[in-house]
Amino acid sequence: MTGAAAGSADAAARLRARVELWTPALHTLLDALYGEVVDTDALVQLVIDIASEAAGVRRVELQQLDIRREADPAWFQRPSMVGYVAYADRFAGTLQGVVGRLDYLAELRIGYLHLMKVLRARDGANDGGYAVADYHEVDPSLGTWADLEHLTDELHGRGISLCVDVVMNHTAREHEWARLARTGSARHRDYYLVFPDRTEPDRFEATLPEVFPDLAPGNFTWDDDLRGWVWTTFNDYQWDLNYANPEVLVEMLRIMLALANSGVDVLRLDAVAFTWKRLGTNCQNQPEAHVIAQVFRALLAIAAPGTLLKAEAIVAPSDLLPYLGVHRLQRPECHLAYHNQLMVMLWSGLASGDAILAGTALAALPPTPAAAGWVNYVRCHDDIGWAVSDADATAVGASGPAHRAFLARFYRGDFYGSFADGVPFSTNPQNGDERTCGSTAALCGVGRALRAGDPVALDLAVRRVQLLYAVMFGFPGIPLVYMGDELALDNDLAYVDDPARVDDSRWIHRPEMPWTLARERTTAGSVEQRVFSFVQHLADVRGSQPAMCAGGDLTIHRHPDTAVLAWARRHPTEGRFFGVANFAARPATVPIEAPGWAGLQRPRLVLGDALLGDALLNDALLNDTMLNDTMPNASGSWQLEPYGVAWFVDDADGPLQPAC
Ligand code: GLC
Repeated sequence: MTGAAAGSADAAARLRARVELWTPALHTLLDALYGEVVDTDALVQLVIDIASEAAGVRRVELQQLDIRREADPAWFQRPSMVGYVAYADRFAGTLQGVVGRLDYLAELRIGYLHLMKVLRARDGANDGGYAVADYHEVDPSLGTWADLEHLTDELHGRGISLCVDVVMNHTAREHEWARLARTGSARHRDYYLVFPDRTEPDRFEATLPEVFPDLAPGNFTWDDDLRGWVWTTFNDYQWDLNYANPEVLVEMLRIMLALANSGVDVLRLDAVAFTWKRLGTNCQNQPEAHVIAQVFRALLAIAAPGTLLKAEAIVAPSDLLPYLGVHRLQRPECHLAYHNQLMVMLWSGLASGDAILAGTALAALPPTPAAAGWVNYVRCHDDIGWAVSDADATAVGASGPAHRAFLARFYRGDFYGSFADGVPFSTNPQNGDERTCGSTAALCGVGRALRAGDPVALDLAVRRVQLLYAVMFGFPGIPLVYMGDELALDNDLAYVDDPARVDDSRWIHRPEMPWTLARERTTAGSVEQRVFSFVQHLADVRGSQPAMCAGGDLTIHRHPDTAVLAWARRHPTEGRFFGVANFAARPATVPIEAPGWAGLQRPRLVLGDALLGDALLNDALLNDTMLNDTMPNASGSWQLEPYGVAWFVDDADGPLQPAC
């Protein structure tokens, strides 16, 4: 299976070309990281040998995927690309179970699947799988490595890419390296950051924030076996790796290559921002963390060029863009990164019924490079940190601290007019910073309305879910559907009775998939059906609009009614898009010429029947009549329904087939 292509002259020539292409960069990068501790030439040779060996045993089918993707580097930016995110066990029991659910994913038009907790985590508390005990073994309750390979084959057969986490910043205390360190191996002790006493930890602590201030205060943990303080950014059983030691980088490279060769298409670089420590800083986003990601990018490009890297860096926007390669060196880094800012701004807009802050914050973001992009989301398995910058808040006459506190209160349901059923997460006793957990539906008020038996409130709550998803799908990037959102699943309170989970309120939005309830998705008028069919519709419309291909420009337009977010996209070859979204629970007025702000000459409504107002114009829009004659002299306005969203494309761009 592997030998034929590996041995073929073509494959060898392609590999040689990739090695030649990336070798100079690897010299520069590894020299920057380790030039002072090792012979860089030997290290470069070692990692290239490892990557080449992995290329040599890559399955033929994967090599063919590589070739296709190298020829079509925008393959993941297509408008038809929609993602789904789930815990494998909670979604389908086992990896084999996931194979049995592919029809469900096809119903949602899914082309990218992020499965969590795939590799063997430590027993007991394991941070939802983010404390890995063995990176070369699938979690035995899910299946085997062969099952993982089988799953990737099945997914590829349906055109779906698989994303799996590489928990690269830390291992479980029970990982073999940590076990060896604990039993006296000096070599493995140096895989971690261990200090004999508090002197160094205290110096670092002076500038280190706390990630889980209530679950796991402090960044260091005393370990009796080590007889030292070990660096633990997250929980005490998650030991940070020492990337200043090149052996760690080499080990992690082998792990990534094994995953890529199992058929995993996207490696999610978990907590990548934390991989390099520097005294006097917050030890996040250090230049070396970027160099590390660039080294992995180069080596994967040699061994498995169809593989993507996705940065999980939930950091300020100015710190985030560099993970997409936006920095002084403009070197390829990750292909994808989470658009945390969009997510926060969606929720902020919904709470305040106003889009001015969202527009201001999103307009302030630098553009993404054409060859890289966002993964967009409304909810994920983690908490929401209220990342509203003081500068953005001040720009709209608000106070950053006050707005952040408002959002936390609003979403825990403790504010006048709140519809949300969220719960706090990891409140920081020092600065009062409070994060929020809860399912999308719960935060939008679906559960409350159902419990109250209030059909009007329920309708509004469903519209809120639809609003957030419609904006998220309308922004450039891969839209991710978080498991359960498509059915408007309420909070799951089962975690409260589980001693291993009760302290971690993130479990409130990590439910088991209720497959019986999922059948309601076809019951006309049910909440499940309204949301599920809406997500399907978003995917269908998006997939058929070339202008919604990622990789173009994004512009935020100031809208006279500040409840409305107005955004435009222009792709150099695929055309123009314009969207408006009303964040208020009342109708909003949209000037008739609004699509013209973005240069659309013949705007055509492709999503949203929410336009009220001038019947003739409505007719013209809905019947695809060209508006260009009307536009220059157009007067009047449309009304956008409460929480209504409308998407337009420009027919002046001609009837295009998606090419990207
Ligand atoms: C990432 C994960 C989160 C985990 C943390 C530590 O942020 O998304 O769930 O707790 O990394 O691994």
